[in-house]
Amino acid sequence: MKMDIQILDITGNQRYEKLLYKCLSPIPFRKYRKRREYLESAIPKGFRKKFLFLDAQPVGQIEYAPAEACGYPIFGEKLVVMNCIWVLRKAKGHNFGRMLLSKMVESERWADSFATIALEDHWSPWFKKWQMEKLGFKPVKSIKVRHKIRHVNEPFRIYLMWMPVKQNAVSPNWDEEALLKGADFCMAHPLYRPERMGTEKIMEKIE
Ligand SMILES: CC(C)(COP(=O)(O)OP(=O)(O)OC[C@H]1O[C@@H](n2cnc3c(N)ncnc32)[C@H](O)[C@@H]1OP(=O)(O)O)[C@@H](O)C(=O)NCCC(=O)NCCS
Repeated sequence: MKMDIQILDITGNQRYEKLLYKCLSPIPFRKYRKRREYLESAIPKGFRKKFLFLDAQPVGQIEYAPAEACGYPIFGEKLVVMNCIWVLRKAKGHNFGRMLLSKMVESERWADSFATIALEDHWSPWFKKWQMEKLGFKPVKSIKVRHKIRHVNEPFRIYLMWMPVKQNAVSPNWDEEALLKGADFCMAHPLYRPERMGTEKIMEKIE
């Protein structure tokens, strides 16, 4: 049977505001402050979120922005940073991840390269390095960290992942100190920094 697949940019589309906040996660819809502030500052600078609809159901998404407006302390020249990509397991096996990735690359023709993060030995199923590699990113550098509150005895590694699309692309970098503060652009993120932590670091570097 033929599948009905549609990829739609939902940025700034009132009809899909829920998806802009809660994405594909089972968390209740709430226009929480950190996300709202992030969106308000990032959208005018080029933030984008696209969903893949399978038979009219949202089953995959990609979120990205030019480095200056991304959710991580990653920087570089002519660089777009992918905040997140996610395809529900029930829709796996059709290369939807690659499809979403291609849409991002096609939409941001000005970019020389794309970056994101990956995790290794993290207790969550998210941002697995092998998955990011399968999508076409390669590791540039990494740090080994320990979370200060959760799973404190389970150190993990954070990788800076890179995918150049032009020959003269310059490899990106990150601000390690800022990285240790985690991320607050999405509540479902494995490195989310809870409100009560203020601007404190949620991780410490081991090596
Ligand atoms: C990377 C990703 C987008 C690729 O999706 P895809 O194009 O459907 O990939 P495939 O169907 O080729 O599946 C590749 C492998 O990834 C795994 N996978 C697919 N969807 C997954 C998901 N949502 N979570 C974890 N693993 C997943 C599958 O187990 C599959 O391995 P298998 O063939 O051994 O079962 C997808 O794996 C994914 O969404 N992973 C989680 C990404 C993430 O961490 N997002 C952060 C959310 S907070």
